[in-house]
Amino acid sequence: MRIRAEQGDITTAHVDAIVNAANSSLLGGGGVDGAIHAAAGPRLLEACRELRRTVLPAGLAVGDAVATPGFDLPARWVVHTVGPNRHAGETDPSLLTSCFTRSLDVAAEVGARTVAVPAVSAGVYGWSPDDVAAIAVRAVDGWDEAHPGRLDEVRFVLFSTPVHAAFEDALATARRH
Ligand code: APR
Repeated sequence: MRIRAEQGDITTAHVDAIVNAANSSLLGGGGVDGAIHAAAGPRLLEACRELRRTVLPAGLAVGDAVATPGFDLPARWVVHTVGPNRHAGETDPSLLTSCFTRSLDVAAEVGARTVAVPAVSAGVYGWSPDDVAAIAVRAVDGWDEAHPGRLDEVRFVLFSTPVHAAFEDALATARRH
């Protein structure tokens, strides 16, 4: 599986599935969540409301993931995950690892072969980009080892230069070991 990082807007990524850094309500927000809902159109919110009415009445748990169609996005699927919120005392790295591994599980389950992933929790939820990058790269590498051939590419799509640099550093470090 190819694993790489690029700077850009995840809503324009031409991949099978993009990962959304959502919140437990699944009813939208700012940051990448707001950008994805704006680009996907109102049907995305309706699909999320349907999830809340049916399989997720209490919302999506931190570290879990669920898929919806991508609607007006280039990507066929959106995989919503909820990162740990450092401001709410959610500092356990295993919660963030779970966001990445569960997102890849769900993407593979819906048949995606290429997935774009943002820096979950590195914005509003207050985690440092360096920590998110190290955790994300380790999680995706580990997932690939456990699921050989299940995905063709995971592409970290970072919105700012410093976060992109943090992921490039984490990828370079992982390749040295
Ligand atoms: N494409 C890629 N990355 C983006 C984009 C975009 N269009 N917009 C923002 N980002 C980046 C941010 O710069 C940050 O590095 O995504 C990373 C995650 O930031 P947030 O979107 O704030 O996500 P998070 O820190 O997980 O906080 C989630 O914020 O928007 C609300 O509803 C969301 O309550 C939830 C919380």
